[in-house]
Amino acid sequence: MTFVPVARLDQIPEERGMRVKVGELAFALYRVGDAIHAMEDACPHAGFPLSKGRFVDGVIVCAAHGLCYDVRTGQNPENADGFPIPCFRVRIEKGMVEVDLDDRINDPRRERAQRRDRD
Ligand code: FES
Repeated sequence: MTFVPVARLDQIPEERGMRVKVGELAFALYRVGDAIHAMEDACPHAGFPLSKGRFVDGVIVCAAHGLCYDVRTGQNPENADGFPIPCFRVRIEKGMVEVDLDDRINDPRRERAQRRDRD
């Protein structure tokens, strides 16, 4: 587990996502109530940055073609069987948002690799 500070808590807007890039990895921070969530920022349909979409009630709607994702789970609420977008663990330390970039939640690629290693 390696938490990296990526933004001040008071920088995260309520009405939209905030794109962050650490090295080659682009993800977005979203505020839902008192919680902050981090999710990869590339739409699986054609790679458009999801953080540029419309954000309502914890769901981001891709500005390109309208697919939507719940930023709390990475799942498309209209297709529960689809692959989720990887999310990251977040913690708040002394007013800073820290993200664990080593530990994706809901990452089907990682889960497939772990299953392959086990078998
Ligand atoms: S790129 Fe997001 S819906 Fe097409």
